[in-house]
Amino acid sequence: MSTTDKTVIDARPKRQATAKNIAEMKGTTPIVCLTAYITPMAARLDKHCDLLLVGDSVGMVLYGMESTLGVDLETMIRHGRAVCRGAKQALVVIDMPFGTYEESKEQAFRNAARALSETGAGAVKLEGGLEMAETVKFLSNRGIPVLGHVGLMPQSVHAHGGYAARGRSEDEWQPIINDAKAIADAGAFAVVLEGVAEPLAREVTASVPCPVIGIGASNACDGQILVTEDMLGLFAINPKFVKRFAEIGRDIEGAIEGYSREVRSRAFPGEEHTYKMRKVSG
Ligand code: KIV
Repeated sequence: MSTTDKTVIDARPKRQATAKNIAEMKGTTPIVCLTAYITPMAARLDKHCDLLLVGDSVGMVLYGMESTLGVDLETMIRHGRAVCRGAKQALVVIDMPFGTYEESKEQAFRNAARALSETGAGAVKLEGGLEMAETVKFLSNRGIPVLGHVGLMPQSVHAHGGYAARGRSEDEWQPIINDAKAIADAGAFAVVLEGVAEPLAREVTASVPCPVIGIGASNACDGQILVTEDMLGLFAINPKFVKRFAEIGRDIEGAIEGYSREVRSRAFPGEEHTYKMRKVSG
C-alpha cells in the first residue's frame, strides 16, 4: 500500500462503536461513558466517549421530576433520536423506562425493539438482576444488545426506601454478585454497577466476563459513567461520587446576570449586533 493510500484510509471517519466493541474492552482500556439527552451535547461528548447513555435520568435532569419513575418510552425515543443525530463514534444506549420491560420478556422485546428501530441506537439498558436474567437472554438472543444495571437501582427507589449506597457490609454482597453474574451469563454486553462500596465493586468486576461500568462504585470497575450535567456542575446537589469537572451552573448564572444588566442599561444589543440598511444603488 502506498503512503497516499494509507492517508486516505486513515482520514475516513471512525466507525460507530458497537456493543461487541465495548464488550471487548474488558481488561484493556478503561471505558469512558456519559449520559446525553440532546444533539449538541451528544456531538460534543461523542469523540471523547466510548458509550453515550440516553438515561432515564433525563426525567430528573431536564424535566425536574422527583425520580425516574415518571419517564415514558416516547420521551426516551425522542431524546434517543436527538442523541443519535449528534453521535458518530460512541455507542448510543437507550435506557428502558420503568414499566416498559418488567412485565414479560415479550413486552421487553416489543419496547426495546421500538427503542432501537425508532432512534438508531445500538443497545438498550435495563435495571435488575436475577429476576431480569431471562429477559436479558430473550433480548440478546434476538439481536438486541443489553447493558445491565445492578447494585443501586434508581427505578426501585420505593422498594429500597432511598438511594443509599449498597454493599457497605459484607452480608449485602452475595445478592449483588449473583445479580451481576446472572445478567452477564444471560448475555449482557456490559453491566452498570451503581452505588456500592469499593471491595464489592472489585469482587463483581473480577467475577463477571463482561465489562463493569461503575457509577459511585470506585475505581475498581472496567469503566465509569456519570450524569453529564452532574459532572459539569449544573446542580446544587453534589453526590459524594460525583467529581465536578466544571461549574457550568455558576457560569450560566454569571452570563444571565450580565445579559440582564446589559438589556436594562441598553448596552446590548450593540452596533456589532445590529443590522444596517442595505445601500440602494442608482
Ligand atoms: O439514567 C441514568 O442516567 C443512569 C446512569 C446514571 C447509569 O442510569
